[in-house]
Amino acid sequence: MAEMQHKSGSTDRGKKQSIKQPTKRDFLTTSLVGFSTALAGFILYPLARFLKQPPSAGGNIKRTIAAKIDEVPVDSGKIFRFGNEPGIVLRTPSGELKAFTAVCTHLSCTVQYVPEEAYILCACHNGKYDLNGQVISGPPPRPLEEFKVDVQADDIVVTRA
Ligand code: FES
Repeated sequence: MAEMQHKSGSTDRGKKQSIKQPTKRDFLTTSLVGFSTALAGFILYPLARFLKQPPSAGGNIKRTIAAKIDEVPVDSGKIFRFGNEPGIVLRTPSGELKAFTAVCTHLSCTVQYVPEEAYILCACHNGKYDLNGQVISGPPPRPLEEFKVDVQADDIVVTRA
């Protein structure tokens, strides 16, 4: 019995010796690696984003091809990229082409066309605009900026005033 206690006592000591307690050095090393990784991400992410699309590559563009004409059938809308912002081109139920900024004037969510209801919806706070970009209801304080629309061959060309 005493021999068993002695054996189990020596086993516990062996376990205690095999579990390494973290040292200040381990803590500092882990902290330094974490900090370096975060710093690298902080620097590299904006750089990678800039290299992918520099802000000057379209931030102030005045004109763009929004869609092919057959991409926007009657009573539908399509989001397109207008410089660094989304735009929306839509064809009303009567067949008229219209284009607006797709940035809601409330808190800048992206709006969408609601087919069959024939209005533009901002789903963030249920803001609604009519097909002239005027606010129908909800919190948006101003109408959507409207763009000029031309059809050139198969392209819907949108121009900012
Ligand atoms: S962001 Fe569009 S209604 Fe609030």
